[in-house]
This record gives sequence, structure tokens and C-alpha cells, in this order.
Amino acid sequence: MINKQNPMSLYVHWPYCEAKCPYCDFNSHVIEKVDEDDWIKAYSNQLYEYKSILDKFNIKFDSLNTIFFGGGTPSLMPIKILENILNISSKIFKFEDNIEITLEANPSSYERKKFKEIKKLGINRLSIGVQSLNDANLQFLGRKHNYKDAETAIELARNTFDNVSIDLIYAIYGQKIKDWDKELRLILNKFDLNHLSLYQLTIEEGTKFFKDYKKGLLEKVNNDLAADFFKNTEMILNEYNFNRYEISNFSKNKYESIHNLNYWNSENWIGIGPGAYGRLWCHNQESRRCEIQNYKNPKTWLAKNYRKPEFENINFFNNHETDIDTLIMGLRLSKGIEISKLFNKSIIKENRFLELEEENLIIIKDNRIKIHDDHIIKLNSILNYLIN
Ligand SMILES: C[S@@+](CC[C@H](N)C(=O)[O-])C[C@H]1O[C@@H](n2cnc3c(N)ncnc32)[C@H](O)[C@@H]1O
Ligand code: SF4
Repeated sequence: MINKQNPMSLYVHWPYCEAKCPYCDFNSHVIEKVDEDDWIKAYSNQLYEYKSILDKFNIKFDSLNTIFFGGGTPSLMPIKILENILNISSKIFKFEDNIEITLEANPSSYERKKFKEIKKLGINRLSIGVQSLNDANLQFLGRKHNYKDAETAIELARNTFDNVSIDLIYAIYGQKIKDWDKELRLILNKFDLNHLSLYQLTIEEGTKFFKDYKKGLLEKVNNDLAADFFKNTEMILNEYNFNRYEISNFSKNKYESIHNLNYWNSENWIGIGPGAYGRLWCHNQESRRCEIQNYKNPKTWLAKNYRKPEFENINFFNNHETDIDTLIMGLRLSKGIEISKLFNKSIIKENRFLELEEENLIIIKDNRIKIHDDHIIKLNSILNYLIN
């Protein structure tokens, strides 16, 4: 049974954007006209269905401690839909007093006009997809906004919200470290931010960039340069008192994203909307992890959910799968994870773990396992080695 201290989060997926960015493989589609009432009914049906699932699996908790509206571009969500989701979820689950409610926003003029209205609904953390402060890079990334839009959006957000984060993409082929350095310092000097998510550009299968890469029209930054970008980024952020608490996330003291920490610490969360998934510790038979998946295609999801709720799948992980998932999520964190979270604690005594510990790539100490700070950039290859 989950006690008072166990966090429970809600993720809400909004799958639409103004345009599809050429690098993005998220479940995002170009916006079309939506029937607001149908979408409200579908989200609401899923929330009530989750309530029965939580009861059925004997998952008890006092209140939600975080909500995250992600996408897609949830700042494009009609206010009426946002308002209804917040009202219904607070009625069903109750909100913790200092609940963190985040919404992802784009810097375009239409969306920044809504910041005040969004704040009034109770959203208290804004995550803005700035991506770059360099107009040439913004154009390359296929973004609809320019530097001026980003600047106005950040200033307005900062005057409206106490907690503002921005996303930036770097290590773009052809970008020089000294130019990224300048861009980063400009942002840190000019804006009083609480949190930054800094992602190296990855070429994801199925995207326009992937097709261009296959045709030889686009190149990737090589690993050595990517590592230099990474080190340099961390050094600058440290100068400005930001701590890297996860591979791509930096925060001022006490401004870590509580919602994302719940994921990385393998806590409980429920997920509604197209492609969203929830993960829970279920207690109906034995302690085990289950994942509740939604239909990914927005039209299918809506058709399946607006009359009565229908999730696509509920999967139960066995103990080994649960441990693998706990490691994949937790090793992203600078602090790593508590070994006591693993079912099979002796997994860390297996040869591969011992080898990496010997090479100082991972550190196993004080009931925690973590990747050494100097090697966190190799996260994916370390995980592949440990897990495959
Ligand atoms: C769901 S998207 C953010 C929402 C919002 N629609 C936006 O784009 O501003 C989350 C973030 O992932 C990052 N991202 C997406 N695809 C990426 C890629 N291929 N390489 C690096 N970062 C990526 C972007 O920084 C983006 O802001
Ligand atoms: S990066 Fe953001 S705006 Fe661009 S397609 Fe993906 S979700 Fe939409």
C-alpha cells in the first residue's frame, strides 16, 4: 500500500503543434480543428477509469503532487480543456498543497498571450521550448519563432511565473563550442531562470532530419566534439550556480522538476491522452510494476475514449523487467538510485557491474548506484552494456 510519502503524478499529453519540427519524434502532429467537448469527455473518462484501476490494485495515496502538460505543444490547448482537466483531477484525486503543475509552451506570440490565463488556472511552472537564441539555428531547426519572440516570451513568463524552465538544443552540426558558449552565457546573464533542459541534437528515426542524414544532406557531431560540448556546458552552468541533477537537466537549488524526478525515481504516475502511459506499483497480488498504455494516434485515442474509457494495454513487468526499468530511469540522475529499490539487489554483483565499477565508470556506495560524473555522457552505452 502506498503511504503518505509516496508521490503520485499525472501526465497529460496534448498531441498537436503548429508545425512538425524536422528533428522531433515525439507523438506530435500538425494542429487541426478539435471538438473541445469530445476531448474533455475523453480526458475525463480516462481520469475516472484510472480512479477505478487504482482502487482495484489497492493503490492508495493522499493527493497528486505533480501534474505535467506535455506534448506536442500544450500551450495550444484550448483553455476550456485545461480548466476541465484540472477541475476533474482535483475532484477525483485532490491536490497536495504545494503541487507542482507544469505546462510546456512555445514562444510564439499567440501562445505567450495566454500565459496570464494559464497562471490563473493554477499552473505554476512553465517550460518554454526556446531551442536556440540564434536565428540561423532556429531556422535550421524548423522553428516558427525567432530570437525576439523567445526573448519576449521568457521575459513575460518570468514576470508571470515563479518557476520558469527553458529547453535548448545544442551540438548541432557546424555549431562551434565558442558560439554555443556565447549563446548560453547570454541566456544566463539576461534571464533569471530556475531551470534549463539542454539537449544535444539527436537524429531520430522517422524524422525529416533522419531522411536528410540518410541522403548525406546532414551530418552528426562526432563523439569527441559532443563530449567537449557536454563538459563545456556543465562548466558554464556551474559558474552560474546551476546543478546538473540529470543528464540533460540543470536547476538552481530546490528547482529540480519534481514531476520528472518522480519518473527517474520510478515512483507512481498516471498518464492520459494519446500515447501517454502510466506506471504504477500494483499491490493486488504481489508487489509488481505495471504500465498502462494509451492509443498513440490522436484520432484513434479520441474515438476510443470519448464515450467510455479504453486504454490500449495494461502490461505487468516481472521483477527482472522492473529492475531493468528502475536502472534505466535512475542512472540518468547524478545521484543515481537507491539499491534498495531493486528486487534483486545482487544484480549489482554481476560481472558487468563489477567490471564497470572497477573501471570507475559506475560508483556503488552508501546503498546507491550511479554513473561517475565524468562518464555520464556515455549513459547509453553504459546502459546497453549493463542491460543487454
Ligand atoms: C515535447 S518537446 C517540447 C515541447 C514544445 N512543443 C517545444 O518543442 O517547444 C520536448 C523537448 O525535447 C527536445 N527535443 C525534441 N526532439 C529532439 C531531438 N531530436 N534532439 C534534441 N532535443 C530534442 C526539445 O528541446 C523539446 O523542447
Ligand atoms: S519539438 Fe515541440 S513543437 Fe516541434 S514538433 Fe516536437 S513537440 Fe512539436
